[in-house]
Amino acid sequence: MRDFAEQRHPEIEVSGLRIKRDGKRLLDIDRLVLNGPGPLMILGPNGAGKSLLLRCLHGLIQPDGGVVRQDGQEMGLADRLQQAMVFQRPVLLRRSVAGNLNFVLRRQGFDRHLRGARVAELLAEGGLEGKARQPARSLSGGEAQRLAILRALATDPEVLFLDEPTSALDPQATQAIEALIAAAARRGVRIIMVTHDIGQARRLGQDILLMQGGRVAEQAEATAFFTKPESQAARRFLSGGLVI
Ligand SMILES: Nc1ncnc2c1ncn2[C@@H]1O[C@H](COP(=O)(O)OP(=O)(O)O)[C@@H](O)[C@H]1O
Ligand SMILES: [Mg+2]
Repeated sequence: MRDFAEQRHPEIEVSGLRIKRDGKRLLDIDRLVLNGPGPLMILGPNGAGKSLLLRCLHGLIQPDGGVVRQDGQEMGLADRLQQAMVFQRPVLLRRSVAGNLNFVLRRQGFDRHLRGARVAELLAEGGLEGKARQPARSLSGGEAQRLAILRALATDPEVLFLDEPTSALDPQATQAIEALIAAAARRGVRIIMVTHDIGQARRLGQDILLMQGGRVAEQAEATAFFTKPESQAARRFLSGGLVI
Protein backbone atom coordinates (compact mmCIF):
# COMPACT_ATOMS: atom_id res chain seq x y z
CA MET A 1 0.00 0.00 0.00
CA ARG A 2 0.99 3.61 -0.39
CA ASP A 3 2.55 5.27 2.58
CA PHE A 4 1.26 8.74 3.25
CA ALA A 5 1.96 8.61 6.96
CA GLU A 6 5.15 10.66 6.90
CA GLN A 7 3.63 13.57 5.06
CA ARG A 8 2.18 16.74 6.43
CA HIS A 9 -1.53 16.70 5.91
CA PRO A 10 -3.80 19.48 7.06
CA GLU A 11 -6.94 18.33 8.81
CA ILE A 12 -10.00 19.92 7.29
CA GLU A 13 -13.15 20.07 9.32
CA VAL A 14 -16.57 21.23 8.27
CA SER A 15 -19.38 22.05 10.65
CA GLY A 16 -22.95 23.17 10.14
CA LEU A 17 -22.44 23.69 6.43
CA ARG A 18 -25.69 24.74 4.74
CA ILE A 19 -26.58 26.08 1.35
CA LYS A 20 -30.20 26.85 0.55
CA ARG A 21 -31.69 28.02 -2.72
CA ASP A 22 -35.36 28.54 -3.44
CA GLY A 23 -36.30 26.89 -0.19
CA LYS A 24 -34.33 23.77 -1.02
CA ARG A 25 -31.37 22.56 1.03
CA LEU A 26 -28.62 21.91 -1.46
CA LEU A 27 -25.98 21.24 1.14
CA ASP A 28 -26.60 20.18 4.70
CA ILE A 29 -23.61 18.78 6.56
CA ASP A 30 -23.54 18.84 10.35
CA ARG A 31 -19.98 17.70 10.77
CA LEU A 32 -17.34 16.25 8.54
CA VAL A 33 -13.67 15.66 9.25
CA LEU A 34 -11.30 15.12 6.37
CA ASN A 35 -8.05 14.10 7.94
CA GLY A 36 -6.43 12.11 5.16
CA PRO A 37 -3.62 11.75 4.59
CA GLY A 38 -4.28 9.79 1.37
CA PRO A 39 -6.46 10.82 -1.55
CA LEU A 40 -10.13 11.40 -0.72
CA MET A 41 -12.66 10.56 -3.42
CA ILE A 42 -16.06 12.23 -3.24
CA LEU A 43 -18.64 10.04 -4.94
CA GLY A 44 -22.36 10.44 -5.50
CA PRO A 45 -25.04 10.80 -8.13
CA ASN A 46 -25.66 13.95 -10.17
CA GLY A 47 -26.94 16.82 -8.10
CA ALA A 48 -25.75 15.30 -4.80
CA GLY A 49 -23.88 18.48 -3.88
CA LYS A 50 -20.35 17.24 -4.62
CA SER A 51 -19.29 20.33 -6.56
CA LEU A 52 -20.91 22.65 -4.04
CA LEU A 53 -19.01 20.97 -1.22
CA LEU A 54 -15.71 21.22 -3.09
CA ARG A 55 -16.31 24.90 -3.84
CA CYS A 56 -17.12 25.59 -0.20
CA LEU A 57 -13.96 23.80 0.91
CA HIS A 58 -11.87 25.88 -1.45
CA GLY A 59 -13.68 29.09 -0.54
CA LEU A 60 -15.11 29.74 -3.99
CA ILE A 61 -18.62 30.02 -2.60
CA GLN A 62 -19.78 31.35 0.69
CA PRO A 63 -22.26 28.97 2.34
CA ASP A 64 -25.41 30.28 4.02
CA GLY A 65 -24.21 28.80 7.27
CA GLY A 66 -21.34 26.86 8.73
CA VAL A 67 -17.62 27.00 8.88
CA VAL A 68 -14.65 25.25 7.31
CA ARG A 69 -11.61 24.87 9.54
CA GLN A 70 -8.11 23.75 8.82
CA ASP A 71 -6.03 22.41 11.70
CA GLY A 72 -8.54 23.93 14.10
CA GLN A 73 -8.54 27.45 12.65
CA GLU A 74 -11.18 28.91 10.38
CA MET A 75 -9.86 28.52 6.87
CA GLY A 76 -8.62 31.83 5.56
CA LEU A 77 -6.96 33.33 2.56
CA ALA A 78 -3.50 32.17 3.61
CA ASP A 79 -4.73 28.54 3.67
CA ARG A 80 -6.47 28.95 0.35
CA LEU A 81 -3.31 30.23 -1.26
CA GLN A 82 -1.83 26.84 -0.39
CA GLN A 83 -4.59 25.13 -2.33
CA ALA A 84 -5.30 24.67 -6.02
CA MET A 85 -8.34 23.51 -7.93
CA VAL A 86 -8.84 21.80 -11.26
CA PHE A 87 -12.23 21.81 -12.96
CA GLN A 88 -13.95 19.40 -15.30
CA ARG A 89 -13.16 21.61 -18.26
CA PRO A 90 -9.73 23.19 -18.15
CA VAL A 91 -9.55 26.94 -18.55
CA LEU A 92 -6.25 27.72 -20.23
CA LEU A 93 -4.68 31.05 -21.09
CA ARG A 94 -4.35 32.12 -24.70
CA ARG A 95 -0.63 31.41 -24.57
CA SER A 96 1.68 28.54 -25.40
CA VAL A 97 1.73 25.43 -23.23
CA ALA A 98 4.99 26.55 -21.60
CA GLY A 99 3.60 30.09 -21.36
CA ASN A 100 0.71 28.87 -19.22
CA LEU A 101 3.12 27.32 -16.73
CA ASN A 102 5.51 30.23 -16.85
CA PHE A 103 2.68 32.62 -16.08
CA VAL A 104 1.77 30.79 -12.89
CA LEU A 105 5.38 30.50 -11.76
CA ARG A 106 5.96 34.20 -12.35
CA ARG A 107 2.86 35.09 -10.39
CA GLN A 108 4.13 32.88 -7.57
CA GLY A 109 7.31 34.92 -7.48
CA PHE A 110 9.37 31.97 -8.70
CA ASP A 111 12.93 33.07 -9.48
CA ARG A 112 13.23 34.04 -13.15
CA HIS A 113 16.46 32.11 -13.65
CA LEU A 114 14.96 28.90 -12.32
CA ARG A 115 11.65 29.18 -14.12
CA GLY A 116 12.74 27.60 -17.40
CA ALA A 117 14.03 24.50 -15.66
CA ARG A 118 10.88 24.20 -13.56
CA VAL A 119 8.66 24.54 -16.63
CA ALA A 120 10.67 21.80 -18.37
CA GLU A 121 10.35 19.57 -15.31
CA LEU A 122 6.59 20.06 -15.17
CA LEU A 123 6.18 19.44 -18.91
CA ALA A 124 8.14 16.21 -18.61
CA GLU A 125 6.02 15.10 -15.69
CA GLY A 126 2.88 15.56 -17.76
CA GLY A 127 4.37 14.06 -20.93
CA LEU A 128 4.00 17.40 -22.70
CA GLU A 129 7.66 18.12 -23.39
CA GLY A 130 7.10 18.07 -27.16
CA LYS A 131 4.25 20.57 -26.92
CA ALA A 132 5.93 23.45 -25.10
CA ARG A 133 5.48 25.98 -27.88
CA GLN A 134 2.07 24.85 -29.08
CA PRO A 135 -0.86 27.16 -28.28
CA ALA A 136 -2.46 25.73 -25.14
CA ARG A 137 -5.91 26.07 -26.61
CA SER A 138 -4.99 23.75 -29.49
CA LEU A 139 -4.27 20.81 -27.18
CA SER A 140 -6.48 17.71 -27.13
CA GLY A 141 -8.88 17.35 -24.21
CA GLY A 142 -6.56 15.01 -22.32
CA GLU A 143 -3.48 17.14 -22.93
CA ALA A 144 -5.32 20.28 -21.91
CA GLN A 145 -6.40 18.65 -18.66
CA ARG A 146 -2.85 17.46 -18.02
CA LEU A 147 -1.66 21.02 -18.47
CA ALA A 148 -4.36 22.29 -16.11
CA ILE A 149 -3.15 19.83 -13.47
CA LEU A 150 0.50 20.73 -14.05
CA ARG A 151 -0.41 24.39 -13.68
CA ALA A 152 -2.11 23.62 -10.39
CA LEU A 153 0.91 21.61 -9.24
CA ALA A 154 3.25 24.42 -10.28
CA THR A 155 1.95 26.41 -7.32
CA ASP A 156 3.18 23.59 -5.05
CA PRO A 157 -0.16 23.27 -3.26
CA GLU A 158 -0.74 21.52 0.05
CA VAL A 159 -4.22 20.56 -1.09
CA LEU A 160 -5.38 19.93 -4.64
CA PHE A 161 -9.12 19.89 -5.31
CA LEU A 162 -10.27 18.23 -8.52
CA ASP A 163 -13.85 18.24 -9.78
CA GLU A 164 -14.44 15.34 -12.18
CA PRO A 165 -11.20 16.00 -14.04
CA THR A 166 -11.58 13.03 -16.39
CA SER A 167 -15.31 12.95 -17.05
CA ALA A 168 -14.92 14.25 -20.61
CA LEU A 169 -11.97 12.02 -21.47
CA ASP A 170 -11.39 8.61 -23.04
CA PRO A 171 -9.82 5.74 -21.03
CA GLN A 172 -6.29 6.35 -22.25
CA ALA A 173 -6.36 10.06 -21.46
CA THR A 174 -7.96 9.20 -18.12
CA GLN A 175 -5.13 6.83 -17.28
CA ALA A 176 -2.53 9.55 -17.91
CA ILE A 177 -4.42 11.95 -15.65
CA GLU A 178 -4.73 9.33 -12.92
CA ALA A 179 -0.98 8.69 -13.08
CA LEU A 180 -0.33 12.41 -12.63
CA ILE A 181 -2.69 12.63 -9.67
CA ALA A 182 -1.26 9.48 -8.03
CA ALA A 183 2.28 10.82 -8.40
CA ALA A 184 1.28 14.13 -6.81
CA ALA A 185 -0.33 12.24 -3.93
CA ARG A 186 2.84 10.23 -3.38
CA ARG A 187 4.82 13.45 -3.20
CA GLY A 188 2.55 14.61 -0.41
CA VAL A 189 -0.09 16.74 -2.13
CA ARG A 190 -3.40 16.20 -0.38
CA ILE A 191 -5.90 15.14 -3.05
CA ILE A 192 -9.60 15.85 -2.61
CA MET A 193 -11.39 14.82 -5.76
CA VAL A 194 -14.93 14.49 -7.03
CA THR A 195 -15.56 11.63 -9.42
CA HIS A 196 -18.59 9.69 -10.53
CA ASP A 197 -16.35 6.88 -11.73
CA ILE A 198 -16.35 4.07 -9.17
CA GLY A 199 -13.36 2.39 -10.82
CA GLN A 200 -11.39 5.59 -10.55
CA ALA A 201 -12.31 5.99 -6.89
CA ARG A 202 -11.07 2.44 -6.28
CA ARG A 203 -7.82 3.06 -8.12
CA LEU A 204 -6.97 6.39 -6.51
CA GLY A 205 -8.88 6.62 -3.26
CA GLN A 206 -7.63 6.00 0.22
CA ASP A 207 -10.83 7.36 1.68
CA ILE A 208 -14.31 7.70 0.24
CA LEU A 209 -17.08 10.19 0.90
CA LEU A 210 -20.46 9.36 -0.57
CA MET A 211 -22.81 12.31 -0.99
CA GLN A 212 -26.51 12.10 -1.53
CA GLY A 213 -29.10 14.87 -1.56
CA GLY A 214 -26.68 17.43 -0.12
CA ARG A 215 -25.77 15.19 2.80
CA VAL A 216 -23.00 12.77 3.62
CA ALA A 217 -24.38 9.27 3.12
CA GLU A 218 -21.21 7.46 4.11
CA GLN A 219 -17.59 8.18 4.87
CA ALA A 220 -15.16 5.30 5.07
CA GLU A 221 -11.71 4.03 4.29
CA ALA A 222 -11.77 2.90 0.65
CA THR A 223 -11.26 -0.84 1.16
CA ALA A 224 -14.03 -0.95 3.74
CA PHE A 225 -16.32 1.16 1.57
CA PHE A 226 -15.96 -1.13 -1.42
CA THR A 227 -15.99 -4.45 0.42
CA LYS A 228 -18.56 -3.83 3.14
CA PRO A 229 -20.45 -0.58 2.66
CA GLU A 230 -22.52 0.25 5.70
CA SER A 231 -25.26 2.44 4.29
CA GLN A 232 -28.01 1.38 1.97
CA ALA A 233 -27.12 4.41 -0.18
CA ALA A 234 -23.60 3.06 -0.64
CA ARG A 235 -24.80 -0.45 -1.42
CA ARG A 236 -27.17 0.89 -4.04
CA PHE A 237 -24.62 3.23 -5.49
CA LEU A 238 -22.07 0.44 -5.81
CA SER A 239 -24.53 -1.94 -7.38
CA GLY A 240 -25.29 0.66 -10.01
CA GLY A 241 -28.76 1.36 -8.75
CA LEU A 242 -30.14 4.84 -8.34
CA VAL A 243 -29.52 6.49 -5.03
CA ILE A 244 -32.69 8.11 -3.77
N1 LIG B 1 -26.18 28.52 -7.90
C1 LIG B 1 -27.14 27.60 -7.75
N2 LIG B 1 -28.43 27.96 -7.65
C2 LIG B 1 -29.40 27.04 -7.48
N3 LIG B 1 -29.16 25.71 -7.44
C3 LIG B 1 -27.89 25.29 -7.55
C4 LIG B 1 -26.82 26.20 -7.71
N4 LIG B 1 -25.67 25.49 -7.79
C5 LIG B 1 -26.02 24.20 -7.70
N5 LIG B 1 -27.35 24.07 -7.55
C6 LIG B 1 -28.08 22.81 -7.36
O1 LIG B 1 -27.53 22.17 -6.23
C7 LIG B 1 -27.54 20.77 -6.40
C8 LIG B 1 -26.16 20.21 -6.20
O2 LIG B 1 -25.32 20.69 -7.22
P1 LIG B 1 -23.84 20.16 -7.45
O3 LIG B 1 -23.04 20.37 -6.23
O4 LIG B 1 -23.34 20.82 -8.69
O5 LIG B 1 -24.07 18.60 -7.69
P2 LIG B 1 -23.03 17.48 -8.14
O6 LIG B 1 -21.70 18.12 -8.33
O7 LIG B 1 -23.04 16.45 -7.06
O8 LIG B 1 -23.58 16.90 -9.41
C9 LIG B 1 -28.11 20.51 -7.78
O9 LIG B 1 -29.45 20.19 -7.64
C10 LIG B 1 -27.93 21.84 -8.50
O10 LIG B 1 -28.91 22.03 -9.48
MG1 LIG C 1 -20.51 18.40 -9.99
